Amino acid sequence: MNENHARVCTSPEWAEHLQNDILAVLTSGLDLGKEMLEIGPGPGAATEWLRHKVARLVAVEIDEDAAARLASRYSGTNVEIVNGSAADLGYPDESFDSAGCFTMLHHVPTVALQNKILAEAFRVLRPGGVLIGSDSLASNSLKDFHEGDTYNPVEPSSLLLRLQTLGFGKITITVDYSVTFIAYKPAPEDEPCPPTAT
Ligand SMILES: C[S@@+](CC[C@H](N)C(=O)[O-])C[C@H]1O[C@@H](n2cnc3c(N)ncnc32)[C@H](O)[C@@H]1O
Repeated sequence: MNENHARVCTSPEWAEHLQNDILAVLTSGLDLGKEMLEIGPGPGAATEWLRHKVARLVAVEIDEDAAARLASRYSGTNVEIVNGSAADLGYPDESFDSAGCFTMLHHVPTVALQNKILAEAFRVLRPGGVLIGSDSLASNSLKDFHEGDTYNPVEPSSLLLRLQTLGFGKITITVDYSVTFIAYKPAPEDEPCPPTAT
């Protein structure tokens, strides 16, 4: 991440925004279960909030230094930090009740790699498990902010189809000043689609 991220993503103001304006709203009424996977925790603003909502939080971070800082901070807590790519998770199928990725998909260089990360989240979710996420919308100022860094914002109108194609159901996508999404891995007991009128 570039200097802009080092300044903003580590600030108390960013943590307050992410926790109060995004996470609290996104998770309202949701059951995150006992075991959650966080993808791309960075400096840990979401990690710090989420760890109080679940019994066990696993956070997978590709940046070695960021992962080391978080591992040191959360040593001996209910948070496990893994240094690696969320596109290739070393967890068996159906390991987690919930998964989350916040402000990180636009840091993934290609749509194919973003899809691989979402597919891995689907694979490791238990049936009935939920994926939640948020990301910034494309803008000139966001592009400038990412000078010298990866900038590949998610196109919200394509996200529904992408999540559906990966197998997610009960998908909610909200587009405001950012995009947020909730998507479930179907459970066997979920109602089959009702017959459609012809
Ligand atoms: C802008 S930061 C967001 C941090 C935090 N989620 C937040 O919202 O404050 C994006 C993070 O995603 C991480 N990241 C990017 N690609 C990743 C991947 N394939 N697997 C895991 N982490 C990744 C980056 O290293 C960076 O720490």
